[in-house]
Amino acid sequence: MNWGSATLGFYGAGAAAVATSVATLRKRLELSRAKHRSLAGHARIARRLARLLPFYEYGEERFFCSDGAPAEIAARRRTGFERLSQLYRTRFAETIKCTAEAAETLSDFQFTAVYRVPFQYSRFVRAHLPSASFVASSNGVMLTDLDDNRSYDLTGSYGVNLFGYDFYKETIERGAARVHALGPVLGSYHPVIVENAKALKEISGLDEVSFHMSGTEAVMQAVRLARYHTGRSHLVCFCGAYHGWWGDVQPGVGNPVPARETYTLTDMSESALRVLRKRRNIACVLVNPLQALHPNRSAPSDSALIDSGRSAHFDKARYTEWLKKLRAVCTERGIVLIFDEVFVGFRLAKGGAQEYFGVKADLVTYGKTLGGGLPIGVVCGCGDLMKRYRDDRPADICFARGTFNSHPYVMAAMNEFLHRLNAPEIDALYRDLDRIWDERARTLNARVAAENLPVRLANLSSIWTVCYTQPSRYNWMLQYYLRAEGLTLSWIGTGRLIFSLNYTETDFAAVADRFVAAIKAMQQDGWWWCDDAATNKSIKRAVLKEIIAHRLAHRLFLRRQSTKE
Ligand SMILES: Cc1ncc(COP(=O)(O)O)c(C=O)c1O
Repeated sequence: MNWGSATLGFYGAGAAAVATSVATLRKRLELSRAKHRSLAGHARIARRLARLLPFYEYGEERFFCSDGAPAEIAARRRTGFERLSQLYRTRFAETIKCTAEAAETLSDFQFTAVYRVPFQYSRFVRAHLPSASFVASSNGVMLTDLDDNRSYDLTGSYGVNLFGYDFYKETIERGAARVHALGPVLGSYHPVIVENAKALKEISGLDEVSFHMSGTEAVMQAVRLARYHTGRSHLVCFCGAYHGWWGDVQPGVGNPVPARETYTLTDMSESALRVLRKRRNIACVLVNPLQALHPNRSAPSDSALIDSGRSAHFDKARYTEWLKKLRAVCTERGIVLIFDEVFVGFRLAKGGAQEYFGVKADLVTYGKTLGGGLPIGVVCGCGDLMKRYRDDRPADICFARGTFNSHPYVMAAMNEFLHRLNAPEIDALYRDLDRIWDERARTLNARVAAENLPVRLANLSSIWTVCYTQPSRYNWMLQYYLRAEGLTLSWIGTGRLIFSLNYTETDFAAVADRFVAAIKAMQQDGWWWCDDAATNKSIKRAVLKEIIAHRLAHRLFLRRQSTKE
């Protein structure tokens, strides 16, 4: 080799290396551009920041004027708060007592109690407006607590309660009777499973079905199948979307380890489609159609309600267009499109989101209501994707089991659910579904607007969220006023109201009256007092300053401690 060709070779290799790193850099840049600008879009940074966030709280004085409200307003708030506290302690006495006792040993109770409101206010609220988490019975659209108080249920049991609790009492009871002779035998099956699979094939328009024990497990299995069949590692989910609590679909706060094989991309964005077109390691895209109500935002919870920045708006045409684009890119790139319909399946339409938006997925997960009131997760998919072994490589399998999968009692309750889905009374509930719920939201919004109240409701059919129209640090108080009016919310508060479809016009009118009464009471108690100069941004900035000041104070404290030692 002479010097000339060696030099040429050297430059050639250099040029190739530069070209590769430019291409890698470009891909990285594309990926960063496809991430949503919010913290929810940057899982790693969010997790790091979460670790830095110091605990601090407002003492009793500051609790009522953390927004700089004048003394007269703080006094009004205090009076309202004390009145509520007194009402809670008398009206919910037994229920509160039982909850407090249970919380000593039930970690879930402790967690949900702490995260009902922003942490700065949490301890004071817990001391005076304690949780009352027990219910003795359900009937129609109402719940009765341990003190015999009846309230309208707006929790929807996390979305499970679609047709009313009485419906599920029947599916469970009748289902149990049908499999009583078999009992809880596992490993072999009761014949109802065959009918279930057939019905689900028809509903999903897909070839095969597998049964699991929860929505989380169904999602795990769908992703595992996609990885197995594509031979690719990564899954894409969209910013803010919930898919259960398995690590790979929970890349941000809440998961102690990073989800290294998950790309969290901006929902409804061209930049996300660009990443899907370019990357070769993407096995599947997970879509939770509930995000259509608030794309790129996490499940709205009152514990994050430090200002009035919560927003939501459902635009069916735009979301449909997005799903179609996503479908086209997935087909073009051989990426498995998974609709996670654990929440919205059966709620938006009998055929779920696929029917509602007119877009077909490769795999669909269902759960919640499909169990007829019992725990369930289901995957439906085309035959090629559902296969868990290879004919030509016998040791190369895609394993999935679960002791309780296809439990006879669950299968029988599901069977009742699926049968009754075709009954005329259920058909009637699906008729004009969107028109009914949109109209209800519209009339309630018109009413609160006419009364000049700072609250608006956004809805995706029977799934609602409360938004706030003027800057405030205290919107989370509304959940306590609503409860005082006899409306029960789940622990995430006003972020999500879930109606069962058996709400009649009369039921809904009663809920609307109570809603308005709660908002008015809260307004009269001064919680929505607002400094003319306040904006959501200024509130966020003020809270950030508090956080930084407490962080610095904490570090100073630690330094002093270490020098003492
Ligand atoms: C879209 C979606 N996927 C998965 C899950 C997880 O289901 P499960 O709580 O049954 O594990 C949920 C639960 O809320 C969900 O809403």
